[in-house]
Amino acid sequence: MVEKVREFTLIDLENIKLFINGEWVTAASNSTFSLINPSTGETVAEIPRAGQKEAQQAIEAANKAFPQWAKLTAYDRADYLLKLRDLMLEHVEELASIMSIEMGKAYTEAVGEVKYASSFLSWYAEEGRRIYGETIPASATNKRLFVIKQPVGVIAAITPWNFPLAMMTRKLGPALAAGCTGVVKPASQSPLSALAFAKLVEKAGIPKGVVNIVAGATKEISDEIFENPIIKKISFTGSTEVGKTLVEKSAPQLKKLSLELGGHAPFIIFEDADLEKAAVGALASKFRNAGQTCVCANRIYVHETVKDEFIKIFVEKVKSLKVGNSLDSSVQIGPLVNEEGLKKVEEHVADAQEKGAVLLYGGKPYNENGYFYQPTVLDNVTKDMKIMTEETFGPVAPLTSFTRDDEVVFEANDTVYGLAAYLYTTNIDRAIRVTESLNFGVIGLNDAIPGVAQAPFGGMNHSGYGREGGHQGIRDYLEEKYISLSL
Ligand code: SIN
Repeated sequence: MVEKVREFTLIDLENIKLFINGEWVTAASNSTFSLINPSTGETVAEIPRAGQKEAQQAIEAANKAFPQWAKLTAYDRADYLLKLRDLMLEHVEELASIMSIEMGKAYTEAVGEVKYASSFLSWYAEEGRRIYGETIPASATNKRLFVIKQPVGVIAAITPWNFPLAMMTRKLGPALAAGCTGVVKPASQSPLSALAFAKLVEKAGIPKGVVNIVAGATKEISDEIFENPIIKKISFTGSTEVGKTLVEKSAPQLKKLSLELGGHAPFIIFEDADLEKAAVGALASKFRNAGQTCVCANRIYVHETVKDEFIKIFVEKVKSLKVGNSLDSSVQIGPLVNEEGLKKVEEHVADAQEKGAVLLYGGKPYNENGYFYQPTVLDNVTKDMKIMTEETFGPVAPLTSFTRDDEVVFEANDTVYGLAAYLYTTNIDRAIRVTESLNFGVIGLNDAIPGVAQAPFGGMNHSGYGREGGHQGIRDYLEEKYISLSL
């Protein structure tokens, strides 16, 4: 049943505006772009297309707001963040519905994302109160040495469409707690979640200019972010391809940059694993957000002696997944974000089948109106298939088998990516040995959903650098200043 609210209180779909310096504004060019609901193909709203001018205004507003915000005590900033968290939770259904119609996340999962997103605000409200400095023993009796930590200044958050709220609060939470102000550039497929969030920023009484949201022309806005000397730090979540260009763009001004990029996660099931638990985990990891996460299981390696049994359990579970309009709360698999996303999935499945993969379930687009693809299981995948090296970003589970631990560790690590990896085993020695040998920033050990606000999340190699979440996640928003005092 699709019965969720379309009459929103946080945004007016007929009149979407940007949020700059605490004001709701249109783009100076008066141009807009259409936002399409991927479940239906219908236009949800016209979004003002911000460009260089709006980006500059937003940066200047954040710069003006910075001194006052930075001067507040960590306790005052924590109060604002906790108020914002409470407001997110009060509006959880509305925020989930907005997210669902703009980028297609299944409603129940979207509710989970709103709660996950709010947890970054409460965690960093607390962490902001623990930004401790240092005193250092001096080597002369008349000297006293200290280190203090101060906010870096104005920051920019460039956020992805697959987690429109959680990836934003994972950046803004620590930034605001540290005393930074900033500009958010949401993905063009998910501006409404960010703008609804801005309404809550306003309701929480956060001073004007502290948070600014500019959706629109990606290149123009990001050029301004990288060229404007006011911006001191940028956090980007998105593709590895774009991440590499941002590294170049950050060089002339040596801007601090953190990058959470693509992944190609191995999911290893050893012969001693609890197969029911492994199947539940593989299902959760692979089909979360219809397979559109950077940490989704991309390659499922099953020990040859348990593969048949695992397949039986796993395919039964995949068959039970309900696909449909993302606003239907009984649906588990919503659409892909757009036609391009759907085409990529079709291409990967066709390529795998041409090269000998065996289709165990699914394998086709699901309905004509939206961008749906059936949950799919492929067996006997091999390394020459695109699906084994490129991110599919869709609901397709590719399975293969292995015989020895060293062999599967080699295969798992044989990728340019290094974001997340998973292993299922009940053997503690093997768990430790394999975990230590995997070159990935996040390891799910008998756990398919490791992301939490209090732990560091980020990748190695082509998956980027920097960590978000945990006490590590606030470091990049702080400068360390050493003070030598001579008495
Ligand atoms: C991601 O895939 O980019 C985020 C996933 C998470 O935070 O769990």
